[in-house]
Amino acid sequence: MDLFTAIKGRRSCRNFLPEPIDQATIEKLLEAATWAPSPLNTQPWEFIVITNPEVKEKIFSEGERCRKWALEKTGWKWLGAYSIDFLKIAPVIIAVIGDPKKSGVDMFTEEGPMGYQAACAAAIQNMHLAAHSLGLSSLWFTLFDKKVLREILGIAFEKMPLALVCIGKPESSSASPPRKDYKEKTTYLY
Ligand SMILES: Cc1cc2nc3c(=O)[nH]c(=O)nc-3n(C[C@H](O)[C@H](O)[C@H](O)COP(=O)(O)O)c2cc1C
Repeated sequence: MDLFTAIKGRRSCRNFLPEPIDQATIEKLLEAATWAPSPLNTQPWEFIVITNPEVKEKIFSEGERCRKWALEKTGWKWLGAYSIDFLKIAPVIIAVIGDPKKSGVDMFTEEGPMGYQAACAAAIQNMHLAAHSLGLSSLWFTLFDKKVLREILGIAFEKMPLALVCIGKPESSSASPPRKDYKEKTTYLY
Protein backbone atom coordinates (compact mmCIF):
# COMPACT_ATOMS: atom_id res chain seq x y z
CA MET A 1 0.00 0.00 0.00
CA ASP A 2 1.26 3.47 -0.89
CA LEU A 3 2.29 5.43 2.21
CA PHE A 4 -0.08 8.37 1.64
CA THR A 5 -2.99 5.97 1.07
CA ALA A 6 -2.11 4.27 4.37
CA ILE A 7 -1.80 7.58 6.25
CA LYS A 8 -5.15 8.87 4.99
CA GLY A 9 -6.99 5.54 5.13
CA ARG A 10 -6.09 4.54 8.70
CA ARG A 11 -9.03 4.95 11.12
CA SER A 12 -9.47 4.33 14.81
CA CYS A 13 -11.50 1.16 15.23
CA ARG A 14 -13.84 0.48 18.15
CA ASN A 15 -15.61 -2.60 16.82
CA PHE A 16 -13.30 -5.56 16.28
CA LEU A 17 -13.97 -9.14 15.26
CA PRO A 18 -12.63 -11.67 17.79
CA GLU A 19 -10.71 -13.57 15.06
CA PRO A 20 -7.14 -14.21 16.28
CA ILE A 21 -4.07 -12.66 14.66
CA ASP A 22 -1.13 -14.90 13.84
CA GLN A 23 2.24 -14.51 15.55
CA ALA A 24 4.08 -13.52 12.35
CA THR A 25 1.72 -10.58 11.88
CA ILE A 26 2.12 -9.46 15.48
CA GLU A 27 5.89 -9.55 15.03
CA LYS A 28 5.65 -7.44 11.86
CA LEU A 29 3.81 -4.76 13.84
CA LEU A 30 6.39 -4.86 16.62
CA GLU A 31 9.21 -4.58 14.12
CA ALA A 32 7.53 -1.59 12.45
CA ALA A 33 7.29 0.06 15.88
CA THR A 34 11.02 -0.31 16.53
CA TRP A 35 11.93 1.61 13.35
CA ALA A 36 10.54 4.84 14.84
CA PRO A 37 12.99 7.66 15.59
CA SER A 38 14.04 8.25 19.21
CA PRO A 39 16.27 10.73 21.07
CA LEU A 40 19.93 9.63 20.70
CA ASN A 41 18.48 6.38 19.32
CA THR A 42 17.63 5.37 22.90
CA GLN A 43 14.65 3.27 21.71
CA PRO A 44 12.77 3.92 24.97
CA TRP A 45 9.92 1.46 24.29
CA GLU A 46 8.97 -1.97 25.54
CA PHE A 47 5.91 -3.92 24.48
CA ILE A 48 3.59 -6.35 26.24
CA VAL A 49 1.47 -8.43 23.87
CA ILE A 50 -1.83 -9.34 25.52
CA THR A 51 -4.19 -12.03 24.23
CA ASN A 52 -5.13 -13.58 27.58
CA PRO A 53 -8.92 -13.06 28.18
CA GLU A 54 -8.50 -12.68 31.95
CA VAL A 55 -5.95 -9.89 31.53
CA LYS A 56 -8.19 -8.21 28.93
CA GLU A 57 -11.10 -8.41 31.39
CA LYS A 58 -8.98 -6.64 34.04
CA ILE A 59 -8.02 -3.92 31.55
CA PHE A 60 -11.70 -3.54 30.63
CA SER A 61 -12.68 -3.14 34.31
CA GLU A 62 -10.02 -0.46 34.75
CA GLY A 63 -11.23 1.30 31.58
CA GLU A 64 -14.81 1.21 32.87
CA ARG A 65 -13.72 2.66 36.22
CA CYS A 66 -11.94 5.53 34.42
CA ARG A 67 -14.84 6.06 31.99
CA LYS A 68 -17.30 6.45 34.89
CA TRP A 69 -14.89 8.74 36.75
CA ALA A 70 -14.39 10.90 33.64
CA LEU A 71 -18.16 11.04 33.02
CA GLU A 72 -18.73 12.26 36.56
CA LYS A 73 -15.91 14.82 36.31
CA THR A 74 -16.79 16.25 32.90
CA GLY A 75 -20.48 15.52 32.36
CA TRP A 76 -19.60 14.82 28.71
CA LYS A 77 -22.60 12.92 27.35
CA TRP A 78 -20.58 10.88 24.82
CA LEU A 79 -18.78 9.19 27.72
CA GLY A 80 -22.13 7.81 28.91
CA ALA A 81 -22.71 6.15 25.53
CA TYR A 82 -19.06 5.17 24.93
CA SER A 83 -18.70 1.39 24.99
CA ILE A 84 -15.24 0.00 25.62
CA ASP A 85 -16.28 -3.63 25.04
CA PHE A 86 -13.62 -3.67 22.29
CA LEU A 87 -11.04 -4.16 25.06
CA LYS A 88 -12.50 -7.65 25.60
CA ILE A 89 -13.16 -8.39 21.92
CA ALA A 90 -9.98 -7.20 20.14
CA PRO A 91 -7.83 -10.34 19.73
CA VAL A 92 -4.59 -8.52 20.58
CA ILE A 93 -3.75 -5.56 22.78
CA ILE A 94 -0.17 -4.29 22.72
CA ALA A 95 0.81 -2.22 25.75
CA VAL A 96 3.51 0.34 24.95
CA ILE A 97 5.73 1.10 27.92
CA GLY A 98 8.16 4.03 27.92
CA ASP A 99 11.37 4.52 29.88
CA PRO A 100 11.70 8.16 31.07
CA LYS A 101 15.45 7.61 31.58
CA LYS A 102 15.85 7.10 27.83
CA SER A 103 14.78 10.58 26.87
CA GLY A 104 18.01 12.15 25.60
CA VAL A 105 19.09 15.55 26.86
CA ASP A 106 15.59 16.69 27.83
CA MET A 107 15.55 14.44 30.90
CA PHE A 108 17.74 17.13 32.51
CA THR A 109 15.44 20.05 31.67
CA GLU A 110 12.99 21.77 34.00
CA GLU A 111 9.96 20.25 32.26
CA GLY A 112 11.36 16.78 32.77
CA PRO A 113 11.63 13.96 30.28
CA MET A 114 9.34 14.17 27.26
CA GLY A 115 11.46 12.78 24.43
CA TYR A 116 10.66 9.19 25.42
CA GLN A 117 6.95 9.91 25.08
CA ALA A 118 7.43 11.46 21.65
CA ALA A 119 9.47 8.45 20.52
CA CYS A 120 6.88 5.99 21.85
CA ALA A 121 4.15 7.96 20.06
CA ALA A 122 6.11 7.59 16.81
CA ALA A 123 6.43 3.84 17.47
CA ILE A 124 2.68 3.60 18.12
CA GLN A 125 1.89 5.41 14.86
CA ASN A 126 4.23 3.07 12.96
CA MET A 127 2.28 0.17 14.45
CA HIS A 128 -1.05 1.70 13.38
CA LEU A 129 0.14 2.27 9.83
CA ALA A 130 1.67 -1.20 9.57
CA ALA A 131 -1.58 -2.75 10.87
CA HIS A 132 -3.62 -0.78 8.35
CA SER A 133 -1.33 -1.77 5.47
CA LEU A 134 -1.83 -5.44 6.48
CA GLY A 135 -5.64 -5.10 6.37
CA LEU A 136 -6.04 -4.82 10.14
CA SER A 137 -7.54 -2.05 12.25
CA SER A 138 -6.28 -0.55 15.49
CA LEU A 139 -7.04 1.85 18.31
CA TRP A 140 -4.77 4.01 20.47
CA PHE A 141 -6.38 3.66 23.94
CA THR A 142 -5.37 5.70 26.99
CA LEU A 143 -8.33 5.59 29.37
CA PHE A 144 -6.55 3.98 32.31
CA ASP A 145 -4.70 4.92 35.47
CA LYS A 146 -0.98 4.27 34.99
CA LYS A 147 -0.63 2.94 38.53
CA VAL A 148 -3.44 0.41 38.08
CA LEU A 149 -2.17 -0.69 34.67
CA ARG A 150 1.31 -1.22 36.15
CA GLU A 151 -0.26 -3.57 38.71
CA ILE A 152 -2.30 -5.47 36.11
CA LEU A 153 0.64 -5.96 33.75
CA GLY A 154 3.46 -6.25 36.31
CA ILE A 155 5.32 -3.14 35.11
CA ALA A 156 8.10 -1.64 37.25
CA PHE A 157 7.39 1.71 38.96
CA GLU A 158 10.13 3.53 36.96
CA LYS A 159 8.51 2.64 33.63
CA MET A 160 5.54 4.48 32.13
CA PRO A 161 2.64 2.63 30.49
CA LEU A 162 1.74 5.09 27.74
CA ALA A 163 -0.84 3.38 25.56
CA LEU A 164 -2.76 0.23 24.83
CA VAL A 165 -2.94 -0.47 21.11
CA CYS A 166 -5.95 -2.66 20.30
CA ILE A 167 -5.55 -4.60 17.07
CA GLY A 168 -7.80 -6.86 15.02
CA LYS A 169 -9.98 -7.18 11.97
CA PRO A 170 -12.75 -4.56 11.93
CA GLU A 171 -16.38 -5.65 12.19
CA SER A 172 -17.34 -2.70 9.99
CA SER A 173 -15.56 0.32 8.60
CA SER A 174 -15.57 3.47 10.73
CA ALA A 175 -16.52 6.92 9.53
CA SER A 176 -13.67 9.29 8.81
CA PRO A 177 -13.58 12.17 11.31
CA PRO A 178 -12.91 15.37 9.38
CA ARG A 179 -9.58 17.19 9.48
CA LYS A 180 -9.02 20.93 9.44
CA ASP A 181 -7.11 22.11 6.42
CA TYR A 182 -3.38 22.24 7.14
CA LYS A 183 -3.47 25.81 5.74
CA GLU A 184 -5.33 26.88 8.93
CA LYS A 185 -2.56 25.35 11.01
CA THR A 186 0.51 26.50 9.13
CA THR A 187 2.61 29.66 9.18
CA TYR A 188 5.39 30.13 6.68
CA LEU A 189 8.45 32.12 7.65
CA TYR A 190 10.03 32.49 4.22
C1 LIG B 1 -2.80 10.17 22.54
C2 LIG B 1 -4.08 9.60 22.04
C3 LIG B 1 -4.97 9.03 22.94
C4 LIG B 1 -6.16 8.44 22.50
N1 LIG B 1 -6.97 7.82 23.42
C5 LIG B 1 -8.10 7.24 23.00
C6 LIG B 1 -8.91 6.53 23.94
O1 LIG B 1 -8.60 6.41 25.12
N2 LIG B 1 -10.05 5.97 23.48
C7 LIG B 1 -10.44 6.05 22.15
O2 LIG B 1 -11.49 5.51 21.81
N3 LIG B 1 -9.67 6.70 21.24
C8 LIG B 1 -8.51 7.29 21.63
N4 LIG B 1 -7.71 7.90 20.71
C9 LIG B 1 -8.11 7.91 19.27
C10 LIG B 1 -8.67 9.26 18.82
O3 LIG B 1 -9.94 9.45 19.38
C11 LIG B 1 -8.72 9.31 17.29
O4 LIG B 1 -7.42 9.16 16.78
C12 LIG B 1 -9.32 10.60 16.76
O5 LIG B 1 -10.66 10.75 17.10
C13 LIG B 1 -9.22 10.72 15.22
O6 LIG B 1 -9.84 9.61 14.60
P1 LIG B 1 -9.03 8.66 13.59
O7 LIG B 1 -7.92 8.01 14.40
O8 LIG B 1 -10.02 7.64 13.11
O9 LIG B 1 -8.48 9.49 12.49
C14 LIG B 1 -6.50 8.47 21.12
C15 LIG B 1 -5.59 9.05 20.21
C16 LIG B 1 -4.40 9.58 20.66
C17 LIG B 1 -3.42 10.15 19.66
